[in-house]
Amino acid sequence: MTTNLHDIPPLYVASQEFLQNPYPFYETLRSIHPVYKGSLLKYHGWFITGYEEVVAVLKDTRFQSRFPLPEASKKYEQLKNIQSGMMLFKNQQDHKRLRLLVSQAFTRKTVERCRPFIQETVNDLLKQVYDNKKMDVVSDFAFPLASLVIAKILGVPEEDRYQFKEWTAAFIQTIDFTRSRKTLANGTEITRKVLIYFKELIEKRREEPQDDLISRLIQEEQQGDKLSYDELLAACILLMIAGHETTVNLISNSILSLLQNPEQLKKLRSQPHLIETAVEEFLRFESPAQLIARTASENIAVGETTIQKGEQVYLLLGAANRDSKKFMNAHMLDITRSPNPHLAFGYGVHFCLGSSLARTEAQIAIQALVQNTTNLQLSSSNLHYRQLIGFRSLAELPVTFD
Ligand code: HEM
Repeated sequence: MTTNLHDIPPLYVASQEFLQNPYPFYETLRSIHPVYKGSLLKYHGWFITGYEEVVAVLKDTRFQSRFPLPEASKKYEQLKNIQSGMMLFKNQQDHKRLRLLVSQAFTRKTVERCRPFIQETVNDLLKQVYDNKKMDVVSDFAFPLASLVIAKILGVPEEDRYQFKEWTAAFIQTIDFTRSRKTLANGTEITRKVLIYFKELIEKRREEPQDDLISRLIQEEQQGDKLSYDELLAACILLMIAGHETTVNLISNSILSLLQNPEQLKKLRSQPHLIETAVEEFLRFESPAQLIARTASENIAVGETTIQKGEQVYLLLGAANRDSKKFMNAHMLDITRSPNPHLAFGYGVHFCLGSSLARTEAQIAIQALVQNTTNLQLSSSNLHYRQLIGFRSLAELPVTFD
Protein backbone atom coordinates (compact mmCIF):
# COMPACT_ATOMS: atom_id res chain seq x y z
CA MET A 1 0.00 0.00 0.00
CA THR A 2 1.26 3.44 -0.93
CA THR A 3 1.75 6.02 1.80
CA ASN A 4 0.27 8.88 -0.18
CA LEU A 5 -3.48 9.19 -0.37
CA HIS A 6 -3.26 11.03 -3.69
CA ASP A 7 -2.04 7.80 -5.28
CA ILE A 8 -5.20 5.99 -4.25
CA PRO A 9 -8.04 6.09 -6.81
CA PRO A 10 -11.12 7.96 -5.49
CA LEU A 11 -13.35 4.88 -5.72
CA TYR A 12 -10.83 2.64 -3.97
CA VAL A 13 -12.95 2.31 -0.83
CA ALA A 14 -15.71 0.65 -2.85
CA SER A 15 -13.34 -1.87 -4.50
CA GLN A 16 -13.08 -5.58 -3.61
CA GLU A 17 -9.40 -5.00 -2.79
CA PHE A 18 -10.39 -2.53 -0.07
CA LEU A 19 -13.31 -4.67 1.09
CA GLN A 20 -11.08 -7.74 1.38
CA ASN A 21 -8.61 -5.89 3.58
CA PRO A 22 -9.30 -2.26 4.53
CA TYR A 23 -6.60 -2.12 7.22
CA PRO A 24 -3.60 -1.02 5.10
CA PHE A 25 -5.72 1.89 3.84
CA TYR A 26 -6.67 2.85 7.41
CA GLU A 27 -2.99 2.76 8.35
CA THR A 28 -2.16 5.05 5.44
CA LEU A 29 -4.87 7.49 6.46
CA ARG A 30 -3.70 7.48 10.09
CA SER A 31 -0.07 7.88 9.10
CA ILE A 32 -0.98 11.07 7.21
CA HIS A 33 -3.11 12.32 10.12
CA PRO A 34 -5.42 10.58 12.62
CA VAL A 35 -7.87 13.44 11.97
CA TYR A 36 -7.74 13.71 8.19
CA LYS A 37 -9.71 16.13 6.04
CA GLY A 38 -10.60 14.98 2.55
CA SER A 39 -13.07 13.09 0.40
CA LEU A 40 -13.85 9.41 0.20
CA LEU A 41 -16.41 8.20 -2.30
CA LYS A 42 -18.49 11.35 -2.80
CA TYR A 43 -18.36 12.50 0.80
CA HIS A 44 -16.26 15.35 2.10
CA GLY A 45 -15.36 15.77 5.72
CA TRP A 46 -13.07 14.57 8.49
CA PHE A 47 -12.02 10.94 8.56
CA ILE A 48 -10.89 9.93 12.04
CA THR A 49 -8.73 6.84 12.42
CA GLY A 50 -6.99 7.47 15.78
CA TYR A 51 -8.46 5.71 18.83
CA GLU A 52 -8.21 8.64 21.24
CA GLU A 53 -9.59 11.05 18.66
CA VAL A 54 -12.60 8.79 17.92
CA VAL A 55 -13.35 8.62 21.65
CA ALA A 56 -13.02 12.41 21.97
CA VAL A 57 -15.63 12.94 19.25
CA LEU A 58 -18.08 10.30 20.49
CA LYS A 59 -17.85 11.66 24.03
CA ASP A 60 -18.70 15.19 22.95
CA THR A 61 -22.44 15.64 22.41
CA ARG A 62 -21.76 18.80 20.42
CA PHE A 63 -21.05 16.29 17.68
CA GLN A 64 -24.58 15.34 16.80
CA SER A 65 -26.06 12.40 14.97
CA ARG A 66 -25.78 12.81 11.26
CA PHE A 67 -28.82 13.59 9.13
CA PRO A 68 -30.27 10.31 7.89
CA LEU A 69 -30.54 11.48 4.27
CA PRO A 70 -29.69 14.73 2.47
CA GLU A 71 -32.40 17.18 3.51
CA ALA A 72 -33.47 17.99 -0.01
CA SER A 73 -34.27 14.43 -0.99
CA LYS A 74 -38.05 14.71 -1.50
CA LYS A 75 -38.06 11.60 -3.67
CA TYR A 76 -37.14 9.38 -0.76
CA GLU A 77 -39.52 11.08 1.66
CA GLN A 78 -41.00 7.91 3.14
CA LEU A 79 -37.59 6.39 3.78
CA LYS A 80 -36.34 9.68 5.20
CA ASN A 81 -39.33 10.00 7.57
CA ILE A 82 -38.76 6.53 8.94
CA GLN A 83 -35.03 7.05 9.41
CA SER A 84 -35.69 10.42 11.09
CA GLY A 85 -37.86 8.69 13.70
CA MET A 86 -35.05 6.32 14.74
CA MET A 87 -33.14 6.98 17.97
CA LEU A 88 -29.90 6.45 16.05
CA PHE A 89 -30.53 9.73 14.23
CA LYS A 90 -31.90 11.69 17.22
CA ASN A 91 -30.19 14.00 19.68
CA GLN A 92 -30.58 15.20 23.27
CA GLN A 93 -34.05 14.82 24.85
CA ASP A 94 -35.69 13.03 21.92
CA HIS A 95 -32.86 10.52 21.84
CA LYS A 96 -33.04 9.95 25.61
CA ARG A 97 -36.81 9.48 25.53
CA LEU A 98 -36.74 6.92 22.69
CA ARG A 99 -33.77 5.02 24.08
CA LEU A 100 -35.34 4.72 27.53
CA LEU A 101 -38.50 3.20 26.07
CA VAL A 102 -36.71 0.21 24.55
CA SER A 103 -33.65 -0.13 26.77
CA GLN A 104 -35.48 -2.36 29.27
CA ALA A 105 -35.78 -5.09 26.63
CA PHE A 106 -32.02 -5.24 26.11
CA THR A 107 -30.49 -5.06 29.59
CA ARG A 108 -28.06 -7.79 30.57
CA LYS A 109 -30.67 -9.26 32.91
CA THR A 110 -33.37 -9.43 30.23
CA VAL A 111 -30.93 -10.91 27.74
CA GLU A 112 -29.97 -13.61 30.26
CA ARG A 113 -33.57 -14.75 30.12
CA CYS A 114 -33.18 -15.30 26.35
CA ARG A 115 -30.14 -17.55 26.87
CA PRO A 116 -32.03 -20.89 26.83
CA PHE A 117 -33.86 -19.90 23.65
CA ILE A 118 -30.60 -18.84 21.97
CA GLN A 119 -28.88 -22.09 23.01
CA GLU A 120 -31.79 -24.18 21.77
CA THR A 121 -31.90 -22.31 18.45
CA VAL A 122 -28.14 -22.76 17.96
CA ASN A 123 -28.43 -26.50 18.68
CA ASP A 124 -31.34 -26.87 16.23
CA LEU A 125 -29.50 -25.01 13.47
CA LEU A 126 -26.38 -27.11 13.92
CA LYS A 127 -28.42 -30.30 13.94
CA GLN A 128 -29.90 -29.35 10.56
CA VAL A 129 -26.47 -29.10 8.89
CA TYR A 130 -24.61 -31.69 10.89
CA ASP A 131 -25.13 -34.68 8.58
CA ASN A 132 -24.15 -32.70 5.48
CA LYS A 133 -20.76 -31.90 7.05
CA LYS A 134 -20.85 -28.51 5.38
CA MET A 135 -22.69 -25.22 5.58
CA ASP A 136 -22.62 -21.57 4.70
CA VAL A 137 -22.03 -19.96 8.10
CA VAL A 138 -23.82 -16.78 6.97
CA SER A 139 -27.07 -18.16 5.56
CA ASP A 140 -27.35 -21.52 7.38
CA PHE A 141 -26.28 -20.42 10.83
CA ALA A 142 -25.64 -16.75 11.70
CA PHE A 143 -28.54 -15.21 9.80
CA PRO A 144 -31.28 -17.63 10.93
CA LEU A 145 -30.05 -17.34 14.53
CA ALA A 146 -30.05 -13.53 14.63
CA SER A 147 -33.33 -13.46 12.76
CA LEU A 148 -35.14 -15.91 15.08
CA VAL A 149 -33.87 -14.16 18.21
CA ILE A 150 -34.85 -10.61 17.25
CA ALA A 151 -38.18 -11.87 15.85
CA LYS A 152 -38.93 -13.51 19.21
CA ILE A 153 -38.00 -10.40 21.22
CA LEU A 154 -39.99 -8.05 18.99
CA GLY A 155 -42.93 -10.40 18.59
CA VAL A 156 -42.69 -11.03 14.85
CA PRO A 157 -44.21 -14.41 13.89
CA GLU A 158 -41.44 -16.88 13.07
CA GLU A 159 -42.83 -17.74 9.64
CA ASP A 160 -42.68 -14.08 8.52
CA ARG A 161 -39.00 -13.68 9.15
CA TYR A 162 -37.90 -14.96 5.71
CA GLN A 163 -38.88 -11.70 4.03
CA PHE A 164 -36.70 -9.81 6.48
CA LYS A 165 -33.50 -10.84 4.75
CA GLU A 166 -34.30 -8.82 1.64
CA TRP A 167 -35.72 -5.95 3.70
CA THR A 168 -32.76 -5.56 6.06
CA ALA A 169 -30.28 -5.87 3.17
CA ALA A 170 -32.07 -3.06 1.32
CA PHE A 171 -32.23 -0.85 4.42
CA ILE A 172 -28.60 -1.26 5.33
CA GLN A 173 -27.65 -0.03 1.86
CA THR A 174 -29.63 3.16 2.43
CA ILE A 175 -27.71 3.88 5.64
CA ASP A 176 -24.30 2.99 4.21
CA PHE A 177 -22.17 5.67 2.55
CA THR A 178 -21.84 3.61 -0.63
CA ARG A 179 -25.53 4.33 -1.22
CA SER A 180 -26.60 5.42 -4.69
CA ARG A 181 -29.83 6.74 -6.19
CA LYS A 182 -30.63 3.17 -7.14
CA THR A 183 -30.23 1.79 -3.60
CA LEU A 184 -32.20 4.74 -2.17
CA ALA A 185 -35.03 4.16 -4.64
CA ASN A 186 -35.04 0.46 -3.78
CA GLY A 187 -34.94 1.32 -0.05
CA THR A 188 -37.94 3.62 -0.47
CA GLU A 189 -39.85 0.86 -2.25
CA ILE A 190 -38.98 -1.63 0.49
CA THR A 191 -39.98 0.93 3.16
CA ARG A 192 -43.51 0.86 1.75
CA LYS A 193 -43.69 -2.92 2.12
CA VAL A 194 -42.16 -2.90 5.59
CA LEU A 195 -44.55 -0.19 6.75
CA ILE A 196 -47.54 -2.18 5.54
CA TYR A 197 -46.18 -5.24 7.36
CA PHE A 198 -45.56 -3.50 10.69
CA LYS A 199 -48.80 -1.48 10.57
CA GLU A 200 -50.75 -4.74 10.25
CA LEU A 201 -48.75 -6.42 13.00
CA ILE A 202 -49.22 -3.41 15.31
CA GLU A 203 -52.99 -3.55 14.79
CA LYS A 204 -53.00 -7.29 15.59
CA ARG A 205 -51.03 -6.69 18.79
CA ARG A 206 -53.23 -3.75 19.71
CA GLU A 207 -56.24 -6.07 19.65
CA GLU A 208 -54.46 -8.99 21.26
CA PRO A 209 -51.37 -7.94 23.19
CA GLN A 210 -48.65 -10.56 23.74
CA ASP A 211 -45.61 -10.74 25.98
CA ASP A 212 -43.35 -9.05 23.44
CA LEU A 213 -41.62 -5.73 22.77
CA ILE A 214 -44.07 -4.51 20.13
CA SER A 215 -47.01 -4.96 22.53
CA ARG A 216 -45.11 -3.07 25.24
CA LEU A 217 -44.24 -0.22 22.89
CA ILE A 218 -47.89 0.00 21.79
CA GLN A 219 -48.85 0.54 25.44
CA GLU A 220 -46.37 3.44 25.61
CA GLU A 221 -47.75 4.90 22.40
CA GLN A 222 -51.32 4.70 23.73
CA GLN A 223 -50.36 6.56 26.90
CA GLY A 224 -49.90 9.81 25.02
CA ASP A 225 -46.80 11.90 24.68
CA LYS A 226 -44.01 9.32 25.13
CA LEU A 227 -43.97 7.71 21.70
CA SER A 228 -45.67 8.75 18.48
CA TYR A 229 -47.08 6.24 16.01
CA ASP A 230 -44.32 7.05 13.49
CA GLU A 231 -41.66 6.59 16.17
CA LEU A 232 -43.19 3.24 17.09
CA LEU A 233 -42.88 2.12 13.46
CA ALA A 234 -39.33 3.49 13.27
CA ALA A 235 -38.34 1.62 16.44
CA CYS A 236 -39.63 -1.69 15.04
CA ILE A 237 -37.70 -1.19 11.82
CA LEU A 238 -34.49 -0.02 13.54
CA LEU A 239 -34.48 -3.02 15.88
CA MET A 240 -35.21 -5.36 13.02
CA ILE A 241 -32.25 -4.02 11.02
CA ALA A 242 -29.89 -3.75 14.00
CA GLY A 243 -30.80 -7.20 15.25
CA HIS A 244 -30.18 -8.80 11.88
CA GLU A 245 -27.20 -7.17 10.27
CA THR A 246 -24.34 -6.68 12.69
CA THR A 247 -24.77 -9.83 14.77
CA VAL A 248 -24.62 -11.95 11.61
CA ASN A 249 -21.41 -10.16 10.68
CA LEU A 250 -19.93 -10.69 14.13
CA ILE A 251 -20.52 -14.45 14.06
CA SER A 252 -19.28 -14.98 10.51
CA ASN A 253 -16.28 -12.63 10.86
CA SER A 254 -15.32 -14.44 14.07
CA ILE A 255 -15.40 -17.88 12.46
CA LEU A 256 -13.32 -16.60 9.55
CA SER A 257 -10.79 -15.03 11.95
CA LEU A 258 -10.45 -18.37 13.74
CA LEU A 259 -10.00 -20.25 10.47
CA GLN A 260 -7.32 -17.82 9.41
CA ASN A 261 -5.58 -18.15 12.79
CA PRO A 262 -5.64 -21.91 13.46
CA GLU A 263 -3.52 -21.66 16.61
CA GLN A 264 -6.21 -19.41 18.13
CA LEU A 265 -8.91 -21.89 17.09
CA LYS A 266 -6.96 -24.67 18.76
CA LYS A 267 -6.61 -22.58 21.90
CA LEU A 268 -10.35 -21.86 22.07
CA ARG A 269 -11.16 -25.55 21.55
CA SER A 270 -8.93 -26.62 24.40
CA GLN A 271 -9.87 -23.70 26.70
CA PRO A 272 -13.60 -23.04 26.19
CA HIS A 273 -13.65 -20.60 29.13
CA LEU A 274 -11.85 -18.12 26.85
CA ILE A 275 -15.04 -17.53 24.85
CA GLU A 276 -15.78 -14.16 26.51
CA THR A 277 -12.39 -12.57 25.83
CA ALA A 278 -12.40 -14.25 22.42
CA VAL A 279 -15.63 -12.53 21.37
CA GLU A 280 -14.31 -9.17 22.57
CA GLU A 281 -11.23 -9.75 20.44
CA PHE A 282 -13.31 -10.70 17.38
CA LEU A 283 -15.26 -7.46 17.87
CA ARG A 284 -12.01 -5.49 17.92
CA PHE A 285 -10.20 -7.39 15.18
CA GLU A 286 -12.95 -7.43 12.51
CA SER A 287 -15.44 -4.88 13.78
CA PRO A 288 -18.90 -5.52 12.28
CA ALA A 289 -19.65 -1.76 12.26
CA GLN A 290 -16.67 -0.06 10.62
CA LEU A 291 -17.75 3.52 10.20
CA ILE A 292 -20.23 5.85 11.91
CA ALA A 293 -20.77 9.57 11.42
CA ARG A 294 -21.50 12.81 13.24
CA THR A 295 -22.03 16.50 12.39
CA ALA A 296 -20.35 19.33 14.35
CA SER A 297 -23.02 21.62 15.86
CA GLU A 298 -20.42 24.36 16.50
CA ASN A 299 -16.68 24.87 15.99
CA ILE A 300 -15.00 22.14 18.07
CA ALA A 301 -11.34 21.33 18.69
CA VAL A 302 -10.25 17.70 18.40
CA GLY A 303 -6.64 17.59 19.54
CA GLU A 304 -4.94 20.34 17.57
CA THR A 305 -7.51 20.35 14.79
CA THR A 306 -10.61 22.54 14.75
CA ILE A 307 -13.68 21.10 13.11
CA GLN A 308 -16.02 23.80 11.85
CA LYS A 309 -19.73 24.01 12.56
CA GLY A 310 -21.72 21.94 10.04
CA GLU A 311 -18.82 19.75 8.96
CA GLN A 312 -19.25 15.98 8.75
CA VAL A 313 -17.06 13.69 10.81
CA TYR A 314 -16.60 10.04 9.86
CA LEU A 315 -15.39 7.78 12.66
CA LEU A 316 -13.60 4.70 11.42
CA LEU A 317 -14.19 2.29 14.29
CA GLY A 318 -12.40 -0.51 12.42
CA ALA A 319 -9.30 1.70 12.21
CA ALA A 320 -9.45 2.93 15.82
CA ASN A 321 -9.69 -0.69 16.97
CA ARG A 322 -6.37 -1.40 15.27
CA ASP A 323 -4.56 1.73 16.46
CA SER A 324 -1.19 0.53 17.72
CA LYS A 325 -0.99 3.52 20.08
CA LYS A 326 -3.83 1.87 22.01
CA PHE A 327 -3.50 -1.87 21.29
CA MET A 328 -0.26 -3.81 21.44
CA ASN A 329 0.21 -5.96 18.32
CA ALA A 330 -2.95 -4.36 16.99
CA HIS A 331 -2.99 -6.44 13.80
CA MET A 332 -2.70 -9.74 15.70
CA LEU A 333 -5.67 -11.80 16.81
CA ASP A 334 -5.22 -12.73 20.47
CA ILE A 335 -8.28 -14.33 22.05
CA THR A 336 -6.83 -13.82 25.54
CA ARG A 337 -6.41 -10.05 25.10
CA SER A 338 -7.47 -8.26 28.28
CA PRO A 339 -8.23 -5.46 28.86
CA ASN A 340 -9.74 -4.88 25.46
CA PRO A 341 -11.42 -1.45 25.37
CA HIS A 342 -12.50 -1.71 21.72
CA LEU A 343 -15.03 0.66 20.20
CA ALA A 344 -16.95 -1.92 18.16
CA PHE A 345 -20.24 -0.94 19.84
CA GLY A 346 -19.48 2.78 19.62
CA TYR A 347 -19.05 5.00 22.66
CA GLY A 348 -21.07 7.60 24.56
CA VAL A 349 -24.79 8.28 24.43
CA HIS A 350 -25.45 6.17 21.33
CA PHE A 351 -23.47 3.17 22.64
CA CYS A 352 -25.06 0.08 21.12
CA LEU A 353 -28.26 -0.83 22.86
CA GLY A 354 -28.02 -4.45 21.72
CA SER A 355 -24.47 -5.12 22.90
CA SER A 356 -25.45 -7.67 25.57
CA LEU A 357 -27.70 -9.50 23.15
CA ALA A 358 -25.05 -9.51 20.41
CA ARG A 359 -22.36 -10.75 22.83
CA THR A 360 -24.58 -13.53 24.18
CA GLU A 361 -25.64 -14.73 20.73
CA ALA A 362 -22.04 -14.69 19.47
CA GLN A 363 -20.62 -16.46 22.54
CA ILE A 364 -23.19 -19.27 22.36
CA ALA A 365 -23.01 -19.67 18.57
CA ILE A 366 -19.23 -19.64 18.24
CA GLN A 367 -18.71 -21.89 21.24
CA ALA A 368 -21.19 -24.46 19.89
CA LEU A 369 -19.69 -24.51 16.42
CA VAL A 370 -16.12 -24.75 17.66
CA GLN A 371 -16.78 -27.40 20.32
CA ASN A 372 -19.14 -29.59 18.29
CA THR A 373 -17.09 -29.91 15.12
CA THR A 374 -13.63 -31.12 14.25
CA ASN A 375 -11.56 -30.33 11.21
CA LEU A 376 -13.45 -27.06 10.58
CA GLN A 377 -12.20 -25.71 7.25
CA LEU A 378 -12.95 -23.01 4.73
CA SER A 379 -14.29 -24.55 1.55
CA SER A 380 -13.67 -21.59 -0.73
CA SER A 381 -10.58 -19.50 -1.34
CA ASN A 382 -12.67 -16.82 -2.98
CA LEU A 383 -14.59 -14.91 -0.30
CA HIS A 384 -16.67 -11.87 -1.08
CA TYR A 385 -17.59 -8.98 1.14
CA ARG A 386 -20.82 -7.09 0.52
CA GLN A 387 -20.28 -3.67 -0.98
CA LEU A 388 -20.64 -1.65 2.21
CA ILE A 389 -18.07 0.60 3.86
CA GLY A 390 -19.89 1.06 7.16
CA PHE A 391 -20.16 -2.67 7.81
CA ARG A 392 -17.74 -5.57 7.53
CA SER A 393 -20.06 -8.09 6.02
CA LEU A 394 -19.18 -11.38 4.33
CA ALA A 395 -21.58 -12.35 1.54
CA GLU A 396 -21.05 -16.03 2.39
CA LEU A 397 -18.69 -18.22 4.39
CA PRO A 398 -18.75 -21.84 3.17
CA VAL A 399 -17.12 -24.32 5.56
CA THR A 400 -16.76 -28.08 5.90
CA PHE A 401 -16.29 -30.06 9.12
CA ASP A 402 -16.29 -33.58 10.56
C1 HEM B 1 -22.21 -7.34 16.90
C2 HEM B 1 -23.34 -6.75 16.83
C3 HEM B 1 -23.53 -5.28 16.90
C4 HEM B 1 -22.65 -4.25 16.66
C5 HEM B 1 -21.17 -4.35 16.30
C6 HEM B 1 -23.36 -3.01 16.85
C7 HEM B 1 -22.79 -1.77 16.73
C8 HEM B 1 -23.42 -0.58 17.03
C9 HEM B 1 -22.80 0.72 16.99
C10 HEM B 1 -21.37 1.01 16.59
C11 HEM B 1 -23.74 1.63 17.37
C12 HEM B 1 -23.52 3.14 17.55
C13 HEM B 1 -23.91 3.93 16.32
C14 HEM B 1 -23.55 5.39 16.46
O1 HEM B 1 -23.05 5.82 17.51
O2 HEM B 1 -23.77 6.14 15.48
C15 HEM B 1 -24.96 0.91 17.62
C16 HEM B 1 -26.14 1.48 18.01
C17 HEM B 1 -27.28 0.78 18.18
N1 HEM B 1 -27.44 -0.59 18.16
FE1 HEM B 1 -26.03 -1.96 17.77
N2 HEM B 1 -24.66 -3.30 17.17
C18 HEM B 1 -24.80 -4.67 17.22
C19 HEM B 1 -25.94 -5.39 17.53
C20 HEM B 1 -27.11 -4.82 17.88
C21 HEM B 1 -28.30 -5.57 18.24
C22 HEM B 1 -28.42 -7.08 18.33
C23 HEM B 1 -29.26 -4.63 18.50
C24 HEM B 1 -30.68 -4.81 18.95
C25 HEM B 1 -31.51 -5.58 18.49
C26 HEM B 1 -28.67 -3.32 18.32
C27 HEM B 1 -29.34 -2.13 18.48
C28 HEM B 1 -28.76 -0.88 18.39
C29 HEM B 1 -29.51 0.35 18.57
C30 HEM B 1 -30.99 0.49 18.85
C31 HEM B 1 -28.57 1.40 18.43
C32 HEM B 1 -28.85 2.90 18.53
C33 HEM B 1 -28.55 3.35 19.93
C34 HEM B 1 -28.73 4.84 20.10
O3 HEM B 1 -28.83 5.57 19.12
O4 HEM B 1 -28.79 5.27 21.27
N3 HEM B 1 -27.37 -3.48 17.95
N4 HEM B 1 -24.75 -0.44 17.42
